[in-house]
Amino acid sequence: MEERKLQDLLESMTLEEKVGQLVQCNAGQFIANTMEITGPDGEMLPTEDLCRVMGSVLTFENAQQAKALQEMHLTADPKKIPLLLMLDVIHGLRTTYPIPLAMGCSFDDDLMTACADMARKESAACGVHVTFNPMVDTARDARWGRIMETNSEEVLINSRMGAAYVRATQGENLAEKDSVACCVKHYAAYGAGEAGRDYNTVDVSERTLRETYLPAYRACVEAGARLVMPSFNALNGIPSVANRWLMNDVLRGEWGFDGVVISDYNAVGELVPHGVAKDLKDAARLAMEAGCDIDMVKNAYYLYLADLVKEGIIQEETVDAAVMRVLKLKNELGLFENPLHGADEEAEKRLYLCEEHRAIARRAAEETAVLLKNDGILPFSGEVKRIALIGPFAEETRLNGFWSRPGAEKDTVTIPEGIRALMPDAEVIIEKGCGAEFADTDRSGIAPAAEAARKADVVILTLGEPENYSGEGRSRAELTLPGPQIELARRVIEANPRTAVVLFNGRPLVLEELAETAPALLEMWYPGTEAGNALARLLWGKANPCGKLSVGLPRSVGQYPMPYNRMNTGRPKPPPDNRPVPFSSCYLDMPNLPLYSFGYGLSYTTFAYEKLTLDRRSMTGEETLKVTVTVKNTGKLPGKEAVQLYLRDPVASVVRPVQQLIDYRKIELQPGESRDVEFTISEKQLRFIDFNCREVSEAGELQISTGYADHLILTESFVLK
Ligand code: NOJ
Repeated sequence: MEERKLQDLLESMTLEEKVGQLVQCNAGQFIANTMEITGPDGEMLPTEDLCRVMGSVLTFENAQQAKALQEMHLTADPKKIPLLLMLDVIHGLRTTYPIPLAMGCSFDDDLMTACADMARKESAACGVHVTFNPMVDTARDARWGRIMETNSEEVLINSRMGAAYVRATQGENLAEKDSVACCVKHYAAYGAGEAGRDYNTVDVSERTLRETYLPAYRACVEAGARLVMPSFNALNGIPSVANRWLMNDVLRGEWGFDGVVISDYNAVGELVPHGVAKDLKDAARLAMEAGCDIDMVKNAYYLYLADLVKEGIIQEETVDAAVMRVLKLKNELGLFENPLHGADEEAEKRLYLCEEHRAIARRAAEETAVLLKNDGILPFSGEVKRIALIGPFAEETRLNGFWSRPGAEKDTVTIPEGIRALMPDAEVIIEKGCGAEFADTDRSGIAPAAEAARKADVVILTLGEPENYSGEGRSRAELTLPGPQIELARRVIEANPRTAVVLFNGRPLVLEELAETAPALLEMWYPGTEAGNALARLLWGKANPCGKLSVGLPRSVGQYPMPYNRMNTGRPKPPPDNRPVPFSSCYLDMPNLPLYSFGYGLSYTTFAYEKLTLDRRSMTGEETLKVTVTVKNTGKLPGKEAVQLYLRDPVASVVRPVQQLIDYRKIELQPGESRDVEFTISEKQLRFIDFNCREVSEAGELQISTGYADHLILTESFVLK
């Protein structure tokens, strides 16, 4: 539709119809028309008009339902304004790829693009118009269960992968049937909740906000994301959905965002318990004034927005502007011409779990696994007649992660299936050993598991956290392996030195004892549909691990916050000594550094970093610096390596981090092959936020290194003029 006609449409709408564009309900409520809406005096309000009024719906099941919803609505709505259908497609729709935190460990934006592309095709076929993704909340505290939804503790990775996701999902033209609009979330700093508790308050300075949290949302907006979701948390005292500074000044003002802002689930209503609105009507006023266009589920707008306008408290122009943004999005998606968009049962059948998509999911599961330790037992080699597969995850099907679609476990390639497919002649003995829930205390399976281990040629010991222990509302105070898993590990490792410990979890766990005792330690995260195949291929060397930690793994919860890019102090502890130094910034009872650092990960081959060269010793703001890192595969297998580039600014007007990732690139090298990996550094990458919250670069000496966090090598310096 021509944009001019949208204005005519808006002018033809009643106030009630306008409000309808700004409210969203669940598909279930919509279909059953049973949404319970209570009025100010507790009376039930009539709901028979729901179908006609609602402008958008979230969480539906498939193309058939998408079509039914749209048809129901269009039949009832005299204005024939199509519904927007939204869904959380976080790491794949039907073909599930690894959780976002794992995806960050690939250090590979192209892999993210390939996965996003597959999710886009499946989502479009399902009838999705908007996905609530990417989630780019920089998170450093693994107590927060939603750390599984972010790519990294590092904002650069979140920015690049988030932007790659947006580009791949939205494509060139949203009106194409297989394009899906992105809603970037949770704006802002949701990952910084105090004490790692979900929904908790966030207090960060504007400087830190602009340096560590905002750039990722901004990168997604600049990549074209059409929607933004404010976060649940209060940020410096104001819940995001009521935060005018965040939405009007920064998002729409500074960044020029002209898309739709949609609240998180019930977040407008939560302004009341937050204690900044006296009732739901006040909440509606605050959110609308702050720039929130759509109220997800709580009905504050549905119940009160029209009254607020009639009473002159909210200007009708404010509502009109919000409605116009929603209409424009519908128009960009081509819904006025084709309200069904990509919804297509045939395409669903063709695309879901097709060979091509499985291959992408398998590659992703292989390339996001992080080999933390290997005493040389991996890859398994020699004749393997008997395999003991032990642990609570041995036959688990829920290896997909919190945000996988309901029923995803039915599609999972289990570990026994993966092993049997690769090793058809070997006998696989399965012993659960124990459970992995907090409440699991039964130890009777441990002795039989150790016995099975003793008799086997190799042992695969699966440990971790149940799938629903990470994700929304899943904070933990301890990061140990739940249940008697560590006792199982002790007995099994003692019984057989050819034991590979394989971990399934959605957050960093405390692994200190296993790091000591396990002959090999492989972090699989939640790998998704192709879990079993990917694991078997990794264990037998058909795939070579190449993941690097996108978040450091702690020795203890007491180390948090523990960002790799911690700030300089006046009393630094001299590296690399890991022992306490009196009156320096350290603990008495534990090293400062994580157990495994950000950027760390092993391979079955070895890489030598031979040289780092700069093409100039000084640069102006207009010039660029070419950094060349020469990397050689010195082992016997082909392998991929994430080459990382770090910056250190020894003297600046404000305290700077001890190390800062400024670029990365994933390369593949054959045995003996050497490559010059080139990075082009511009002044923009050297900027930081100064005391006055301005983004600046400052003249002076800067250092560039490679390696990984706290293990930097080949440092060279240059001068920024
Ligand atoms: C709540 C979550 O915080 C958000 O991430 C999600 O997109 C919405 N619910 C919708 O399901």
